Amino acid sequence: MTTSSSPGKIILFGEHAVVYARPALAVPVTQIHADVEVRDSPRAGIWIEAPNIDLHAELSTLPADHPIASVINKFFSPLSPRERGWGEGLPPLEITITSTIPVASGLGSGAAVSVALTRALALHLNCPMTDDEVSSLAYEIEKIHHGTPSGIDNTVVTYAKPVYFVKGQPIDIFKVGHPFTIVIADTGIPAPTKESVRDVRRLWMYDRSRWETVFDKIGIISFTARRAIEAGRWEMLGELMDENHAFLQEMNVSSPELDRLVQAARDAGALGAKMSGGGRGGNMIALVNADKAEAVARSVREAGAKNTIVTQVS
Ligand code: PMV
Repeated sequence: MTTSSSPGKIILFGEHAVVYARPALAVPVTQIHADVEVRDSPRAGIWIEAPNIDLHAELSTLPADHPIASVINKFFSPLSPRERGWGEGLPPLEITITSTIPVASGLGSGAAVSVALTRALALHLNCPMTDDEVSSLAYEIEKIHHGTPSGIDNTVVTYAKPVYFVKGQPIDIFKVGHPFTIVIADTGIPAPTKESVRDVRRLWMYDRSRWETVFDKIGIISFTARRAIEAGRWEMLGELMDENHAFLQEMNVSSPELDRLVQAARDAGALGAKMSGGGRGGNMIALVNADKAEAVARSVREAGAKNTIVTQVS
């Protein structure tokens, strides 16, 4: 049996602007993860068990664009069964997929499943893949389900390190000068990133110069935040989060629920807060002094958060 695990992720700064080639910062969240087990099977076919989504099926019975089937099909497509010694078809396997990452909430659940599944298959079948290859495969899957993704999710999940991401540029991992604590809070509202990305594109097409200026300002926030994190001056991030949130509100990708949690976090003593990811639902983040983390988490739950995670970025 072969296993592989991939973490969730959270975007600290720069979502949406990153689609327009401005920098964004994202970090892995190891408290939540997708886990995959692959083992040889006594029966023919590739059998998939994913109890979280109530999936118990043989690969060939799934539609080709099914999120899990598409990863497996993409993995096998460049491989020749005969050269690999599998005879005419694919090797008989049993695959079990579990995940503690909430879906459609900006925590990278799709990318984490793609990466863990690809790596488990590659290891089990002795088909070595570089991190770049794993990330590219996961990016292809993101494209099927999200339209025009920037590639930030598959990158941070594959490398499981803090990433300064610019679309189309080589991976840039940054150092955290001093650990800091964030509270992640879930509105409990699943929100498809595809729709908020599409709506921002409409705004941009209608008034490019206005939105290019906003994206530039967000890009400067991401750049400044990276420098602050590297220098260990994490307290500076609070104000930058507040500024970034205001731009996301202007883009109309926040929501009353997200704004309520952001305000509750600030009122409870967070140094700054913002929505994270596609928006309209999903998660928000708040920067806190470690000793205030539990109080801020409690306040956002009282303000309606369905779940909170306290995590240290280090
Ligand atoms: O909702 P998430 O965390 O997958 O984030 C999407 C981030 C966007 O910038 C809105 C889209 C993208 O592809 O980068």
